[in-house]
Amino acid sequence: MAVTDRSDGFHLETDIHAAIHDLTRRLAEQSQNVDKEPIIKVAQPEHVPYLREVGTPGVAHDVEKVLEEAFTAFDFRLRVNHPRFMGLIPSPTSPIAWLGDVVASAFNALGASKLQASGPVVIEKTLIGWLASRIGLPATAGGVCVSGGSMANLMGIVLARDQCVPHGEEQRAVAYLSDQTHYSVAKALRLLGFKSNRVRKLPSDVSFRMDVDELQQAIKYDRASGLVPFLVVGSCGTTNTGAVDPLKQIADVCKMEGMWLHVDGAYGASASLSATRRDVVNELQYADSLSWDAHKWLFQTYSCGLFIVKDKANMVKSFANEGDYLRDGTAFEDDDIPNFWNCTMELTRPASRAMKLWFTLRVVGTQRIGEMIDHGFKLAESAESELRGLQDWEILSPANLGVVTFRYAGRTTAAVDDQREQVHDAINSRISKELISSNVAGILTTKVKGKVALRICALSPDLALEDMAHIIREADRLGKEFSMKMMMNNRSEEKEDDEFSI
Ligand SMILES: Cc1ncc(COP(=O)(O)O)c(C=O)c1O
Repeated sequence: MAVTDRSDGFHLETDIHAAIHDLTRRLAEQSQNVDKEPIIKVAQPEHVPYLREVGTPGVAHDVEKVLEEAFTAFDFRLRVNHPRFMGLIPSPTSPIAWLGDVVASAFNALGASKLQASGPVVIEKTLIGWLASRIGLPATAGGVCVSGGSMANLMGIVLARDQCVPHGEEQRAVAYLSDQTHYSVAKALRLLGFKSNRVRKLPSDVSFRMDVDELQQAIKYDRASGLVPFLVVGSCGTTNTGAVDPLKQIADVCKMEGMWLHVDGAYGASASLSATRRDVVNELQYADSLSWDAHKWLFQTYSCGLFIVKDKANMVKSFANEGDYLRDGTAFEDDDIPNFWNCTMELTRPASRAMKLWFTLRVVGTQRIGEMIDHGFKLAESAESELRGLQDWEILSPANLGVVTFRYAGRTTAAVDDQREQVHDAINSRISKELISSNVAGILTTKVKGKVALRICALSPDLALEDMAHIIREADRLGKEFSMKMMMNNRSEEKEDDEFSI
């Protein structure tokens, strides 16, 4: 069969080449230059019938027509790489990462074993070894690329259970988290069969860090009750406030108690590649295992997570398996070119996660990547300093690993003083909505110490510090406007604006 006579009916040179040529130009323009686009665009009820219609496969269509349909569908999305999107954890994707992803998906290599993708497997192993050494782990360290932090957290718990819970004691095994630990950890524990009465969510300290005294007391109490403490999950960059737990102290406790320390660094571990701020996360080196999302602060497309473990032999102990039809591949591996199917949950796994991350680091270089990460720190710090220069704003958590939370807390009328917190909750929610609808900034709300707060996690190297200052001033203007409106509404008999009258 000639290359061009494809079974799917397409002619490689005329149909596919033309489509790719046109597409790369459009994609580069539209998906990578997003700063003029709406930060968040949600499909409205009137759009749903069209989306349903095109969502139904049916007969064959022209590539051009279906590409248009795809562009329309993707238009209704939150632009996670928009420079002014500062909610959740943004993904300020580098166009180089995107290019790496395109190359990797074109080759569609199966990164599971030496037999299937020996080239990419060596790159993945080398890359992970290099990343592990950057965080100070020993030469025994290793890891695998995974879908993201949720999967890496689950794998950390599996290793902790297999290494630290004596056979037959699973029902009495207890895991320790803080009230700031990402919910994916509790979810993974539940999926692995740990009941909620075997999971301790310890109250964090005033800086939202795990309280080591609380941890020690809880472990002591549980041991005295005949339970089996086996795992502490520390955080390196909590999602809400960017807090980094005292990992060295926690590691000391774990060592003394024969427990495993898994660190959720899904967000914060990338700071270890920062050009000037690496110190903030240097206690990552004490982890037995850790999660690290390159699709957060390493500028990668989804999905690109890493699971790294201090002693890679432990991965194989938990995840190695056998299958008759894999016997040729199983016999065919060595330490330089491992079979990753023995190190992770997945059998079929894309080589693209490692390849695009490698591609980005190789093209952009570690110095520039480090400076791009530094910029995220500076954006949060400049937002904080701008806020501190204004009246009426309360900082609920200072700039920490690129996250700052704050709240408009200006004057309210005496009549509503006793409901001041509620009024401020409403004003801050309204500021967030207005910033989004006017496309000034994608700043979402969260709750900190029970109060509704605005939260900035701005990681885009393409957002200037002056733009951040402008956004804060706009938030201040809105806060004053809504506060004034609320006071007027409370004074007026009609009370027209329900949201702002008490
Ligand atoms: C601290 C932290 N851990 C874990 C996760 C889960 O990671 P993923 O969404 O990649 O599964 C997140 C997600 O945002 C996170 O912020």
